Amino acid sequence: MIINRLIAKNWRNFQQINVSLRERQFIVGPNASGKSNLLDIFRFLRDIAKVDGGGFQKVVKDRDGVSKIRCLAARQVPEVSIEIHIADTPDVPATWRYALGFTQEPRGHRRAFLTYERVWQEGKLILDRPNLDDNEDPDRLTQTALEQSATNAKFSEIGKFLRNVTYLHLVPQFIRYADAIQGKIIEDDPFGQGFLERVASVHPSTRRSRLKKIEHALKIAVPQLEKLEFVRDKNTGNPHLQARYSHWVSSEETHQEDQFSDGMLRLIGLLWTLLENDSVVLLEEPELSLNLGIVSQLAPLISRMRRNRRCQVLVSTQSDALLTEQGIDGTEVLMLTPGKEGTVVKPSSDYDDVCAP
Ligand SMILES: Nc1ncnc2c1ncn2[C@@H]1O[C@H](COP(=O)(O)OP(=O)(O)OP(=O)(O)O)[C@@H](O)[C@H]1O
Ligand SMILES: [Mg+2]
Repeated sequence: MIINRLIAKNWRNFQQINVSLRERQFIVGPNASGKSNLLDIFRFLRDIAKVDGGGFQKVVKDRDGVSKIRCLAARQVPEVSIEIHIADTPDVPATWRYALGFTQEPRGHRRAFLTYERVWQEGKLILDRPNLDDNEDPDRLTQTALEQSATNAKFSEIGKFLRNVTYLHLVPQFIRYADAIQGKIIEDDPFGQGFLERVASVHPSTRRSRLKKIEHALKIAVPQLEKLEFVRDKNTGNPHLQARYSHWVSSEETHQEDQFSDGMLRLIGLLWTLLENDSVVLLEEPELSLNLGIVSQLAPLISRMRRNRRCQVLVSTQSDALLTEQGIDGTEVLMLTPGKEGTVVKPSSDYDDVCAP
């Protein structure tokens, strides 16, 4: 399943978002245009849905409260709202729709509370809050139904789907120094600190097959690469990746991940994540540390990697080079244009239409 539409109001630097989403979606904009803020909507929903994640109150608090989330350009409207449509493919009616609106208590603890929460299944409204129970006990509106397994049985599929959303903003140094910083992995590991452990934890045959695919893809970027393997340190048992290059005199010579280049490490992490996931993968600026030639290959690589698992990939980027692939459709690119009244989000196909003779 994929998220095929996102509707939001007053989220960070966006007053309004209403866009359809494809299986491969690029989110393009200059610095501070809101690319990370847009991806954060999906992390926000994922974190609410987490089984032991602390729910709605925690995810708002993690973002320093409703007043920091609410769009500063929207002075009159106190409410933030989000709606997602979940379906098998783009451009079809949603199997599931989930929507919530929230604001902040006007006084006292200033907790975040829901103004509404709704779920539709196949177009039929199956949850509509506030309901009678909420009216009797308004404190209930400090929690979403999504985070309460007792109340979400009818739509537990949405929670399951959202919990699998993966966010990746890989920092090569964290992979390189994994041994030194072991045990201090940030929640959900967005920066790839536990990447080698993840590689180590899958069945050896799955690991071999994934590394083979990655090795094949990496040869585009690093043609001298001959072999990419998984090994364990003989003394410590710690997991490592090892590469062998064809241009070296000795075929016995190898490099481990601490000697890989930043670009190569980011590519390995990124490709592995795509092979590992069958849900939504959020990739932050995958072009970092890669040369332009490789960046232009990223879009086809992403397609090739996600073909097996059918995950949806939402990619934030500042790079025009990433979008040079002929096969990218105008609807696969969302353009973020900052303005006085907040950032406007539109598919690039809308601009093409305007420019067409
Ligand atoms: N509640 C809010 N209302 C209005 N603007 C906000 C709000 N919260 C954050 N911003 C603005 O959003 C911008 C940051 O957006 P974000 O980090 O998503 O940009 P980005 O496109 O990812 O940039 P980069 O390419 O540098 O990573 C900042 O200018 C910040 O001031
Ligand atoms: Mg950003």
